[in-house]
Amino acid sequence: MENLENIKAEMLASVAAVENMKGWDDIRVSLIGKKGKITEMMKSLGSLSAEEKIETGKKLNVLKNEIEQALEKKKNLLAEQELNVRLAQEKVDVTLPVRPETQGRIHPVSKIYEEIVAIFGEMGFEVAEGPDIEDQFHNFNALNMPANHPARQMQDTFYIPNKKSDDFDDSYVVRTHTSPVQIRAMESRPLPIRIIAPGRTYRSDYDATHTPMFHQVEGLVIDKNITMAHLKGCLYDFVKAFFELDDVPVRYRPSYFPFTEPSAEMDIGCLKSKNELKIGSGTDWLEILGCGMVHPNVLRAGGIDPDEYQGFAFGMGIDRLAMLKYGIPDLRTFFESDVRWLKHYGFTPLDFSSMTGGLNNNGGSAR
Ligand code: DAH
Repeated sequence: MENLENIKAEMLASVAAVENMKGWDDIRVSLIGKKGKITEMMKSLGSLSAEEKIETGKKLNVLKNEIEQALEKKKNLLAEQELNVRLAQEKVDVTLPVRPETQGRIHPVSKIYEEIVAIFGEMGFEVAEGPDIEDQFHNFNALNMPANHPARQMQDTFYIPNKKSDDFDDSYVVRTHTSPVQIRAMESRPLPIRIIAPGRTYRSDYDATHTPMFHQVEGLVIDKNITMAHLKGCLYDFVKAFFELDDVPVRYRPSYFPFTEPSAEMDIGCLKSKNELKIGSGTDWLEILGCGMVHPNVLRAGGIDPDEYQGFAFGMGIDRLAMLKYGIPDLRTFFESDVRWLKHYGFTPLDFSSMTGGLNNNGGSAR
């Protein structure tokens, strides 16, 4: 064993030459395993004299320690190298679209809904909700439409019997408009109020532009010193943002709604030709919403003093806006659940509407 130094150098060289974990383990076994070289050398100590045994035993222990350390170092190095190789191979580009092949589509009504919320949200409006099944107080009476008021005939109402009462006035309705949410907002929210209320509405009507269930969005602002000028500015900003145009001509025609005084209908400028409708330019007008200053009786019904507070309100059909904006000719197709239709007119779910990122970046996804 005199050339222990040579043996050590050889062993260290073989450890250094190892290239992977498999090779490392083979070397470890062949050096310090049960039948490894160093183990064998230690076993052979028995044939030496007592003095030599101590001397050589010490040296072998030192050798074994050094080899163990070299093996440990090598192991760490190999582990690190193998990890780096794996990291390079298994790289994931987290900036890629999550599911480029998304099949589902967002319905145009949901899209318009999102767009409207994004626009009014930016103006500081909150979204308010009310029930689809309403009592007549909220749907009619509180909106300045007492029983037998002729305006009740303006809407073809679906009534729902009240099992607890035979009195027709106690029967429920599926709400004919989103206006009852005005009353619910006044009842439940602190002043000032600035809400929109999008949702389902129901009337007995069915043709290319009417379905028994349809969607409206209501708007309500109540504060001190609110005027018609606020109403006009707010709705003008809305139509520009909604149609994504720098300017949209608007006009207000006097109208009648029981819950507003004065009342108006808002038209936007457009160009109607045989096959096309172009918003924003031209000599034609298109009615898009009803609006007005909240009637004092409505404020009173909502528990608000009309001598102290004023407000404006507006209501519009969401489905109609979707038809206009995305050129969909027949409202009935909205509710037929035809997957081909949805593929054509729908929107990709990952395309969020926002005032900063765009309302509908991709347009109709399939077009
Ligand atoms: N509720 C009306 C309807 O369904 C729409 C409407 C008109 C709502 C004028 C309003 C408004 O808030 O001020 O036809």
